[in-house]
Amino acid sequence: MPHPNPQARGLFISFEGIDGAGKSTHIAGLADAFRGQGRTVTLTREPGGTPLAEKLRALLLNDSMDPLTESLLVFAARRDHLMNVIEPALARGEVVLCDRFTDATFAYQGGGRGFDLDVLGTLERWVQATPAVGEGALRQPDLTVWFDLPPETAAARLADARAPDRFEAQPLDFFRHVAAGYAARAAADPTRFARIQADQARHLVWQQLTSTFVRRGWLSIMVPANSGPR
Ligand code: TMP
Repeated sequence: MPHPNPQARGLFISFEGIDGAGKSTHIAGLADAFRGQGRTVTLTREPGGTPLAEKLRALLLNDSMDPLTESLLVFAARRDHLMNVIEPALARGEVVLCDRFTDATFAYQGGGRGFDLDVLGTLERWVQATPAVGEGALRQPDLTVWFDLPPETAAARLADARAPDRFEAQPLDFFRHVAAGYAARAAADPTRFARIQADQARHLVWQQLTSTFVRRGWLSIMVPANSGPR
């Protein structure tokens, strides 16, 4: 039985992709893989992850609002989440697996809604300048796993899903813009992003994922395909 390593450096990993990309089950599988190697994992999501941010999430997913209001609320939720969950977990040396982070804001509010990217950049600098990262620096994920798949494929998957929220209910064209927003963020910061081809069978997506982590030395052995999510 592996023991938690008190010297381990905190790792902040975000997961991104358009609705229907299939990331949730894989995030749970990765949490198990990290725990299996003795790491303590904080599994969290945005918008959300704290009691306040979860209230903001409910508003964001259900109430109509203009794009500036939407952007302010996602960043308000993010600040609360960073200060109360993400930074403390990183300070304890944990692995933080976060289902969506700021790239989602650039993709959905920037790409999907067409909102001003400069304003989003300003909010990013305000919100992610946490005391822990020091003067002039921003908290960013160590790695962003981007589940990339054609918007048409994602839409077909979502068609079978539960009642859609305000974002899931958007037309295909909205998701084409969201996907373009993700592609632009990945192109601007290629070393932070790992692109996963998410339009493949689940075990092949899992293989791509685990090899990404093994390559970085964050998971020490190749986790067999059948140990991932079903
Ligand atoms: P989820 O369904 O993956 O939990 O995400 C909730 C929705 O919120 C999803 O449709 C994407 C959207 N979203 C934004 O529009 N902006 C953001 O900054 C984040 C984090 C999520």
